[in-house]
Amino acid sequence: MKKITVIGAGNVGATCANVIAHKDLTREVVLVDIKEGVAEGKALDIWQTSSINNFNTRVVGVTNDYLKTKGSSIVVITSGLPRKPGMSRDDLIKTNAIIVKEVTEKVVKYSPEAIIIVVSNPLDVMTYAAYRTARKHSSRVFGMAGILDTGRYKAFIAEALDVSPKDIHSLLLGGHGDAMVPLPRFTSVSGIPITDLLNKEEIDKIVERTKKGGGELVNLMGTSAWYAPGAAAAQMVEAIVDDQKRIFPVCTLLDGEYGLSNVYMGVPVKLGSKGIEEIVELKLNKEEQKMLEESAKSVKDVMKILDEMNLFDD
Ligand code: NAI
Ligand code: 2OP
Repeated sequence: MKKITVIGAGNVGATCANVIAHKDLTREVVLVDIKEGVAEGKALDIWQTSSINNFNTRVVGVTNDYLKTKGSSIVVITSGLPRKPGMSRDDLIKTNAIIVKEVTEKVVKYSPEAIIIVVSNPLDVMTYAAYRTARKHSSRVFGMAGILDTGRYKAFIAEALDVSPKDIHSLLLGGHGDAMVPLPRFTSVSGIPITDLLNKEEIDKIVERTKKGGGELVNLMGTSAWYAPGAAAAQMVEAIVDDQKRIFPVCTLLDGEYGLSNVYMGVPVKLGSKGIEEIVELKLNKEEQKMLEESAKSVKDVMKILDEMNLFDD
């Protein structure tokens, strides 16, 4: 497998590079940042764990040198401001849209074939911004949020039932915001519906905590999370590198699926070596469909701010 690049050597980017290296998915990971020395230092630190953690992947850091990223097969974009207490993900749009556009232009220039995974917030709209900039098929430009959000949902369920999180299967739809739609009807513990294991009040509490899961961590730490986000992005990389055909909730461009169009949002997809190989359409009940449409509306409201920025020529 060719090289994998991670743009942004902050909390999420460095964690993602670290997890990719630990999984030994590729020969080389390139970590890029604009802050002089930061990517170089973190990459060197990760590389120096190779003999301890038993991996071969060479991790290389560069300051804004895209030549070193040339020919990457997958690029993960994490560059941009994170949330601080009191901020929503949407407050980040004006700064991060400019960063994501600029970075995507450089990525595409040096790695025209790369699959792009966006992590920067506000996620759904930043993924759309990368798609507009990259001018690639949407099956090759998509965003990470659903694996993180279901990771939180599964952790809360595992705690409530005192079972292994490994046995929990679940799905979640919608934008990466407080209007996201966890789906208890599609959640089970080793096939046992959680509706048989927890009462409505308990499930509602978990769903609400999941929706606000990002904010809970921002309030605790003064900045947003990185271990689970970095690991979630690395899991997407792994599914692509190994052509695993995993079914994950991924932020993708909808073109009529779920009755929605021209919006990037989280839905279940099949993820393999070609990127998004299929969008899976669930049969939603009326209540679930309504919540999904509300989530789409909140994403579209943020897209309006991006449109008003007039960043794209066409
Ligand atoms: P951070 O502040 O730790 O790291 C961001 C890095 O991006 C910094 O090192 C900064 O120097 C770098 N950067 C800024 N402009 C750049 C440019 N033009 N080129 C290269 N690097 C540049 O932030 P953190 O915690 O790593 O978060 C990164 C982004 O990911 C934020 O927008 C955050 O909101 C988002 N995020 C998204 C999640 C998701 O589920 N999609 C989950 C967690 C964070
Ligand atoms: C998170 O959900 C803030 O998007 C970031 O942790």
